[in-house]
Amino acid sequence: MPTSDPSHGLGISGSLRKASYNTALLRAAAELMPAGMTLETFDLLPLPMFNQDAEKPFPEAVAEFRARVAQADALLIATPEYNSSASGALKNAIDWASRSPQQPLNGKPVATMGASTGNFGTLRAQLHLRQILTHVGVLPLGKPEVLVGRAEQAFDAEGRLGDAAARGFLRDSLAALAKWTQRVSPA
Ligand SMILES: Cc1cc2nc3c(=O)[nH]c(=O)nc-3n(C[C@H](O)[C@H](O)[C@H](O)COP(=O)(O)O)c2cc1C
Repeated sequence: MPTSDPSHGLGISGSLRKASYNTALLRAAAELMPAGMTLETFDLLPLPMFNQDAEKPFPEAVAEFRARVAQADALLIATPEYNSSASGALKNAIDWASRSPQQPLNGKPVATMGASTGNFGTLRAQLHLRQILTHVGVLPLGKPEVLVGRAEQAFDAEGRLGDAAARGFLRDSLAALAKWTQRVSPA
């Protein structure tokens, strides 16, 4: 029987709206997590807008966010696509987390995913997001990509991901993230 400790994943939705497809995508991820990996989520709503004058000390919600990122073995980020990029809420959170001391994103394994009502399922948003994440030192999972287009058809009225193909990509991506986390984490 395997005896290694489970990896702890932290899920972050870049959408603040209650009925968000991206938050629903994280709920689907929680159902599909592979053995050996857990998933908790962090709500970005309480984070203030980044202000370089307000870093010493960090606001309470920011300190909590940074601590949760630091404690996680891996991150799972679900981004909406706003005007061909990731959401401002997500960029704001990354800016807060990117600051010294003990920058918690550095070396962190991360999988990105996203749902949008457009045809391309956050393709452009995820490309921008990966550019930003690479700058702050995360180790992004390459593939499988999770791009849920036409989200209003992929999710039902209760916010459950019913689309079988999307569930398959999500399951495969989570399994790959678990392996990636084991591979790049210090022993
Ligand atoms: C300001 C704004 C810009 C948007 N731009 C895009 C876009 O560039 N591409 C796209 O596929 N959808 C776009 N959408 C539609 C979003 O995909 C849709 O609102 C989606 O539900 C947002 O994610 P959420 O459900 O997690 O909140 C945009 C929506 C908003 C509000």
